[in-house]
Amino acid sequence: ANILLINGPNLNLLGTREPAVYGSDTLADVVSNCKKGAQKLDVKAFSDFQSNHEGAIIDRIHQARDEGVTGIIINPGAFTHTSVAIRDALLGVDIPFVELHISNVHAREAFRHHSYLSDKAVAVIAGLGVKGYDYAVDFVATSPKFRR
Ligand code: DQA
Repeated sequence: ANILLINGPNLNLLGTREPAVYGSDTLADVVSNCKKGAQKLDVKAFSDFQSNHEGAIIDRIHQARDEGVTGIIINPGAFTHTSVAIRDALLGVDIPFVELHISNVHAREAFRHHSYLSDKAVAVIAGLGVKGYDYAVDFVATSPKFRR
């Protein structure tokens, strides 16, 4: 597998941002855990990207096709609930993806219940805290759904 992890807006603040909701691990902790997991699972390549800008995330998704990425793990942050453009980018490159949320978005405000991505995702993870990232890496590394 060749895995790309994308984190959207405000996830650079992980660790200090609403710790009661998102925990105290930083994004650097999360990414380094994912890398360790990927190594253990013999993942060929693992890259990661964080941006607060919708267009930059879209550009990174396009780049993934040229790099031969076979699976994307994306926490789109608030763009989950707003972005037709990120949905179109993921469909455009035709790379299977896992949608990930640290919090259980369904137990929160109604505007977080709708996602522009979920019906196209191979899987959706929500509410497992930052542990969800480890499970996502494991799943993408081992599921035939991401092998091609
Ligand atoms: C989030 C949930 C979103 O609703 C929110 O806007 C985020 C983080 C999560 O990981 O739980 O920024 O994607």
